[in-house]
Order: sequence, then structure tokens, then C-alpha cells
Amino acid sequence: MNRSSYRFAVFFDTHYCLERTLELVPGCAETSDIPRYQWMARCLFPRMLEELRTHRPHLCVCTGDICEGGAHASPGVLERELREVIGHFEQAGLPMVNARGTHEPGGVYAAAALPAFSRALGRKLERNWFHFDTPAGRFAVIEYLTLAPGNEQATWLEDACLSIPADTPLFLAAHAPIANFARPLFSHRPMQTVLASLFARRRPTIFFCGHTHNQALSWHRVGDGGFAQVKGSSVGFPGVRPEPLSTRHVLLLEEADTCFFGVPEDQAPGYWIFDAEPGRLVGSWYGTGRGRLARVHFALDGKSPPEILEAPVFGSPELLAADLPLVRTATLEMFTYGLENDDLACRLNGVPLGRLPAGGGFAARRFLPLPKAAVRTLSTRNELWLGSPTTSAMFAGGARIAAITYDGRTLASRIPPVLFAAGRFVEALRAACPARSERIQPVDPRGFSMELPLA
Ligand SMILES: [Fe+2]
Repeated sequence: MNRSSYRFAVFFDTHYCLERTLELVPGCAETSDIPRYQWMARCLFPRMLEELRTHRPHLCVCTGDICEGGAHASPGVLERELREVIGHFEQAGLPMVNARGTHEPGGVYAAAALPAFSRALGRKLERNWFHFDTPAGRFAVIEYLTLAPGNEQATWLEDACLSIPADTPLFLAAHAPIANFARPLFSHRPMQTVLASLFARRRPTIFFCGHTHNQALSWHRVGDGGFAQVKGSSVGFPGVRPEPLSTRHVLLLEEADTCFFGVPEDQAPGYWIFDAEPGRLVGSWYGTGRGRLARVHFALDGKSPPEILEAPVFGSPELLAADLPLVRTATLEMFTYGLENDDLACRLNGVPLGRLPAGGGFAARRFLPLPKAAVRTLSTRNELWLGSPTTSAMFAGGARIAAITYDGRTLASRIPPVLFAAGRFVEALRAACPARSERIQPVDPRGFSMELPLA
């Protein structure tokens, strides 16, 4: 680091998780987050903290869900979780602030968190949202769930963004993305409304967010310029070889917008390190335990997209028809939205697979093992039939056949290029991204089919 530069770190959903009353039965990590997050609190978080410490940032900014909060905790655990994770940063000598997300417990948040953030910034904070100035530019930290048009936080945010000169870099940190192109309908409309109106007058240099647990660097056009969105996740499995985001998700990007790179949920958990010098800002994306994955120059003129100095190198292991004789085990993987129960029956090439575990919010990790009878039917053309007798509104996407071969490779077929939607979700998805409405295919949820071809 150059002596004249200012270094800041940004990290994302951490879901720091202490003990829960939930019984950790073998395999429960498919549908329960708790066993994953308890594992990550022990095996991943300390490593990230140590790596952040070695980068010696002047400040760390978290975009929320810094602790797990929520269900199955014994009395006192939620507050201890929040205080403990913040305490780890203070003990490591890392000044840190957090944009409150979905999971931090509301009742104790201000009392448990703001004194530490005040110490980090050297001034007393009164609210969960606040702004501050650094040699890199102005930061505004948003509490996304309470931001709504015309309210006190919206007035503060407008003032925080408009009261600095146009050439001062502006960094916003919020939990939810403003551009949510890889986990549809997982956005927060009141926040989007406030920010869209504000960005028409003052674009941020970078909008930092998390929430979806898939990561992406993207550029979004507004007027004669645009802004970069850095969406990250600090939870995931560091041992998984990262794949491009598009191998798991249909990207619903506006016409003039660009996704430079990204990874699906659970891959390359990490953080970003930014070095700011007068007139120059370079950010590096790190995977915890993996080193630097990418390096990016962010223009400060509000007009030019980021310049990729070092692109990440991903594996993209596509399951080919030629690999089929080597398949040892295979699964059907997919995402669904709007299904609260396990009521989506699946058949592959006519072979019943059972019912897909419910994934109400397009959550990752839902899968069904393929019986040998289904594996034997795999060919260049595969038909997946899905049906729910009880659901009238849902959507599904990202279906693929994943296989482990006898020579030890993990491979997967390409996902269909559309989302399959029923009921109110047809229009909701089209409205979320009008430029990509052809990627929303209406279906009858009582029974519909899709092709899963192999090259
Ligand atoms: Fe989260």
C-alpha cells in the first residue's frame, strides 16, 4: 500500500452463528442454514478475519447480515452473537461499521452495535444509518428495511448524497441489491424507489450490497453515466471451485447494463479490498483462503464502467454426452420460488424422482438424487417434467443435471435459458426486468416440461 493511499475493506453476509437448539441431524444443511453457518463461524470466519487483518485496512464496511439472529436461539444468544462478532473486529484492531441487514436482531441492535461503530469512526452515532467522510470519499450506510420514500432516512440519505461536490467519490452500503438480476424478486421495493429517484440526480461511485449470497460485479446505466454495483458474500464453501454465475442463474439484466463476473451462491466466499489515491480507485476481490480472484479499476467520473485489470479464472465443467458412461452419481439441482411445501413432483425422462424440497425464496442447494434408473436414461436430449397439484403461483429455474464421474470430476449440464413462471409471477418477473421479458416462460404449474440437453 502506498503511504498516500487510503485502504478500505468491504465484506458481506457473514451470518456469524452461535449455538442453536436445532438438532444437527446428518444432511440437514440442505434446507437449514444453521448447520452451515455454525460450520462457517468456526472454519471460515476466523480465516477471513485474519486475512482482513493482514491487509491492514483503515476501515472495514459490512453490508449486513453480519450475524445470523433469527430462529432456534436460546435466550440471550442473539445479542451475544451480535456483540461477539463485532467484538472480534475490535479485538483484531479492525475498525468496522455495518449496514443493518435482514438478520440482525432489531431490539438490541442500536445498543449493541452503535457504540463500537462510533469508536471506529471517532464520533458518536445516533442512528442505524449514518454517513462519514474519508480520504477515499463519502460513505453512506443505509438501513434498507426502514428506508422508504419521504421518511426521515430518505431525507437524510438525499442530503448525504447531494451535499458533496460532484467529483467527490460516493460509496453507498446497503444490504439488499438495487439491481437484483440473479435472484429475482429478492429485492426491497421501497429502497429501490428511493434510490432510483436519488440516482437520477447523483449516482454513487459504487453501490455495495449482499443479501442474495451470490456475488457479482456489475455496471448500471443511469442518464449519461452509471454506477458500479459490488454484490458480495462472505459465507459459502471456500473449497468449491468457483463457476460463472450464469452456470446456475438466468441473468435478468437491463439492456444497457453489464455483469462483468460473478459466482453462484456458496462459492468463493470473500471480501474486497480497495486502495484509493487522489483520482484513482482500485478494488481487489479476494476469496477467503483462495487469494486474489480479480482486480478492477473503478472510474471516478461517474460515466465510465469499471475496467477489469485481472479477470477471475473460473472452472466451467460442462457435462457432455461423452461423459455419460463415466457417471457414478448424479443429482437434479434447481431453484424454485413460491413453493412453501415439498409439493413439486419431478420426473426425468419419465422416471419418477420424488418431490423437490421446498425452496420458497429461490434458495440454493435444493436437489434430488437421480436413481440409477434415471441415470441410465440420460442422453443428449433429456426431458424434465415438473408438477404441483396445489400451487397456482410459482416460478422455477436453474435446473441442471450435476454428476460426479468415476475419474473424480464434478460436471453439470447447462441450465435452460428461461425462468418457468405461473400465476402472478409471470407479470412480476416481466415487470422486474422488462428488457428480458422473453426469458420468462409462462407454464401451467400442474404439469410442465423443460429440456435439459447435453452437448
Ligand atoms: Fe444473508
